[in-house]
Amino acid sequence: MSIERTFGIVKPDAVAKGAIGGVIQMIEGAGLRLLGVKLLKLSQAQAEGFYAVHKARPFFGDLVRFMTSGPCVVMAIEGENAVTRYREVMGPTDSKKAPAGTIRAKFGTDIEKNAVHGSDAPEAAKGEIAFFFAASELV
Ligand code: CMP
Repeated sequence: MSIERTFGIVKPDAVAKGAIGGVIQMIEGAGLRLLGVKLLKLSQAQAEGFYAVHKARPFFGDLVRFMTSGPCVVMAIEGENAVTRYREVMGPTDSKKAPAGTIRAKFGTDIEKNAVHGSDAPEAAKGEIAFFFAASELV
């Protein structure tokens, strides 16, 4: 077992429905801990930069519009096998396919309004945490 870091976002749809606390409760309930948290509204440039890997995808414009539509919460998360554990707690990208007991089943709507983001690998997590947090902000 290894202690690992991952990165998550409570997206604008979940923040708008008052689910920040509910999402964090499920993350902590899975044995993970937060080492950095910020409430912010992404700028166009931040959203485009963060999701640059999806730039060529047909949904990119909608994704950036959605992610800049309201405040979100960015989180650095730590724990045993945190990347995989958090992905299990989130459920699959499409909220409609998410099993009961997952964050996306509880708070998501569809593949776009899917309540949360999570890193897909430890290397990606490193870059995504650094995108939003200085090392001194992680406690
Ligand atoms: P996320 O984990 O934040 O990473 C990329 C996001 O793009 C994903 O969650 C979805 O919200 C969104 N996404 C992925 N595939 C599609 C799709 N086919 N249509 C619309 N949005 C998508």
